[in-house]
Amino acid sequence: MCGIIGYVGNRKASTILLKGLKNLEYRGYDSAGIAIKHTAGHTQVKKSAGKLEEIGQSFNSESIEGNIGIAHTRWATHGAVTDENAHPHTDCEGKIAIVHNGIIDNYKELKGRLISKGHSFTSDTDSEVIAHLIEENLGYGFEDACMKAFSSLEGSYAILALKEDEDKIVGVRKDSPLVLGVAEHGIFLASDIPSFLEWTNKVMYLSNYDFIIAEKGGIKVYNEGKEVLRQIDTIGWNIEEAKKGEFKHFMMKEMSEQAETVMRALLQDENIVRDIVDEINNALGVFFVGCGSSYHACLAGSYLFSRIAKVHVNSVLASEFENYEHFLTDRTLAFAVSQSGETADVLFAVRGAKSKGSKVVGITNVLGSSLTMEGHALIMMNSGPEICVLSTKTYTSQVVLMTMLAYAVAGKYEEGLKKIGSLYLDIYNLTSRTMRDSLAKLAEILRDKWDIYLIGRGLQYTTALEAALKIKEVSYIHAEAFAGGELKHGPLALIEDGTPCIVFVSAENKSKILSNAEEVKSRGGYIIGVSSEQDDLFDFWIKVPEAEELNPIIQIIPMQVLAYELAVLRGLDPDKPRNLAKSVTVI
Ligand code: AGP
Ligand code: GLU
Repeated sequence: MCGIIGYVGNRKASTILLKGLKNLEYRGYDSAGIAIKHTAGHTQVKKSAGKLEEIGQSFNSESIEGNIGIAHTRWATHGAVTDENAHPHTDCEGKIAIVHNGIIDNYKELKGRLISKGHSFTSDTDSEVIAHLIEENLGYGFEDACMKAFSSLEGSYAILALKEDEDKIVGVRKDSPLVLGVAEHGIFLASDIPSFLEWTNKVMYLSNYDFIIAEKGGIKVYNEGKEVLRQIDTIGWNIEEAKKGEFKHFMMKEMSEQAETVMRALLQDENIVRDIVDEINNALGVFFVGCGSSYHACLAGSYLFSRIAKVHVNSVLASEFENYEHFLTDRTLAFAVSQSGETADVLFAVRGAKSKGSKVVGITNVLGSSLTMEGHALIMMNSGPEICVLSTKTYTSQVVLMTMLAYAVAGKYEEGLKKIGSLYLDIYNLTSRTMRDSLAKLAEILRDKWDIYLIGRGLQYTTALEAALKIKEVSYIHAEAFAGGELKHGPLALIEDGTPCIVFVSAENKSKILSNAEEVKSRGGYIIGVSSEQDDLFDFWIKVPEAEELNPIIQIIPMQVLAYELAVLRGLDPDKPRNLAKSVTVI
């Protein structure tokens, strides 16, 4: 789940690549590196373990002259986080350099073969075999050597390669993202669009197994040995969206954008929505599939479909979906929900569903991502780039889409749009200064707690799950959600004097959930109510408007802010939680 970027053009490659890497760092941040085809005719590599802000200086101070280069920010899968294992990797002679995103499944076998032919390795990664494989085939010329090398790889890969005496970058993609950016001064090859958005908004999306040769003069793309034409699109995103602006962290910026992004999620082509509604009505079995926050949106979706559309849908964790495969037929409809569109578990589930003849609708935020090319139909979330590792604005957009679809299936599409549209001001106020100050006070109270429990019923239970995920991933405090009714079946044993319990209240289930809160309070729990009305039970009250079936869009926002405040108070970087990466491209 690393980020890769390459540049070939008229400008100084090292400056461009370092900027690009900064924008890619959310994808992995344990090591970084850069390789430039030096104007003096050799390949110069700088790489190191650590965060880019710590190691970037040393790259910068080196004046690496050259207009062709590749760079990498790593999230280790094979080999520890060390300088040697950082990318780029080179061949024995140090002439060829490669960067790789993904996993080479057959690397052990390839490595063994290469070692027996005399190649010597300097890292423990799976990726290094690629450089040696190219070297092994150099007799065919650089381009064909790359093609031959890539064809012996099994697994997932987006690869960029350069050679000291070639004015080009050669690349390939299979099950890992790679998009091209076309600027007047040069060509970019990168894991995502924001990394080069500062220089161009003209992009070329690639398909699996596309083999690319990028030179100053232009781009050639081959697939199955034949040259193919890939269209260049101009995209609507602008660089401001991918910058922090006045905000200290992307997380706060992205949370604050939610009034806008919720509205943008509603901007869908009505004909596509109607077609999807027909598919849902004709399907024998509908599944919502996702991981992490996207799974929580799926779960909210199944409650929403039950409540608004009176239609049964199953929500399944993508990593568990294969266990449901015997239910899949050509009448099944699966929704694959993934902000990044690159989550390996989700793509695996999609392929499983397709192999049974089932139809797949992708819901994603990232243009050109693998999911945009896999499904039979596609809904874009329109949230703009989300850089913080935590899903915030993309989560609310997913819930909005689920709600909108439930209304559409119920034959109340317009009514749904209107209802959700009326939330604008409420959402805006939930990230206001006053709200943030109040949540910062709560964060002070909670900052040294070991555990936080969260309870809700119905739709509020799904919010409790998502809120627990937000708190744990960014503040590292153990946070766990329960359905209110389940407390008495075990979790109550965990409550001690002062144990915090966040209670999500809705008008509909108020009396039941408050009686669950009472059970906690009478055992010494500290009760934090997320509710439209104050109650004697609450030790702390987070006031939110009552929005009935739209509560999941509203109630999660103060929880995102709380998680953020906790991270900041505990001295943590909310944008880059330890051990996590934005797109999880491993199973
Ligand atoms: C969200 O805050 C998490 N970082 C994570 O659970 C995420 O939702 C999950 O990895 C799924 O990602 P996706 O939406 O890109 O598929
Ligand atoms: N498998 C490679 C490594 O561990 C690349 C990892 C990635 O894609 O982040 O170095």
